[in-house]
Amino acid sequence: MNIRPRINRATVARRNLLHDSSLSSSLVQPYFIVEGQGVNDSIENMPGIQRQSIDVLMNTIHDDFAIGIRNVMLFPVMPAGMKDPHATACLDDTMHLYQAVRAIKEAYGDQIVVMTDLCLCTSTDHGHCGFVEHNEIQNDSSVEQLARIALLHAKSGTDYIACSDMMDGRVKHIRQALERAHQHTTGIMSYAVKYASAFYGPFRGAADSSPETGDRRTYQMDPRAGYKEALLEASLDEAEGADIIMVKPGLPYLDVLRRVADSINRPTAVYNVSGEYSMVMNSTSDGAARGAMVQEILASFQRAGADIIVSYHAREALGNGWVV
Ligand code: PBG
Repeated sequence: MNIRPRINRATVARRNLLHDSSLSSSLVQPYFIVEGQGVNDSIENMPGIQRQSIDVLMNTIHDDFAIGIRNVMLFPVMPAGMKDPHATACLDDTMHLYQAVRAIKEAYGDQIVVMTDLCLCTSTDHGHCGFVEHNEIQNDSSVEQLARIALLHAKSGTDYIACSDMMDGRVKHIRQALERAHQHTTGIMSYAVKYASAFYGPFRGAADSSPETGDRRTYQMDPRAGYKEALLEASLDEAEGADIIMVKPGLPYLDVLRRVADSINRPTAVYNVSGEYSMVMNSTSDGAARGAMVQEILASFQRAGADIIVSYHAREALGNGWVV
């Protein structure tokens, strides 16, 4: 397997993300991208986070850059009419996600680390993260499709492909596809330890990605699972060539994060997910009280070993000076 440690060193922004000791440089702000122009829709239970068309997104990123955001995570939201059983729309290189990456890279070059979510669930009509046949998730054909789509992410210029599907073996196939296409500087951030959590609700509303039938429990991990399975998933993805290993969600799994961070030789990321964000946002409208909560939460991730923290709080934390 081709492991390329130089991927994490390829740009100043990647090195700052991974090695600057300040909390602010570890933060990654998520964005939801829709088709159209002038779209800036609010999201239920996620105050401060919108679904935006590329023109609006670019203004938001401009303002976010001014307050110090240097790492962005992009999620495509697909209109219902473009969904099909195989997420075929993701194979079109004019898709809004790829346009957004190109626009950000054109405007900011390597001053911003761009991460793009790679999954099928936002683009399949059944809403699952893998192909479905006879009511069963088809692991290997899904992985082949993910590897094909990964190439379009890489060609758009993304820094890290963030694979969030939880199919077995996908990091290996994505890495091989990147190698074959000579995409030697594109990184893979693997959602390696991802639980079938009750905390993804607001995200699924935002991304319109709930499964039409059934749930994700045959591919995402059982929330009751112990450390062995977490360490197995993390070490498999490390061996398959992931450049960053993620644990998700964050707060209910801080203990898992610590174990994973201690056991792998790769940077560790944590995803402070939508339901965790909603909990805080709905708990108080007092900015100072919320600031103290956010500081405490972000510090807990850092203490548990996270090098990278994906959080919807990134913007308010930097904008209000809650972190330095
Ligand atoms: C897509 C994906 C999900 C999240 C990130 N990527 C939802 C899911 O697995 O159902 C959740 C993020 C959040 O809740 O903030 N597979």
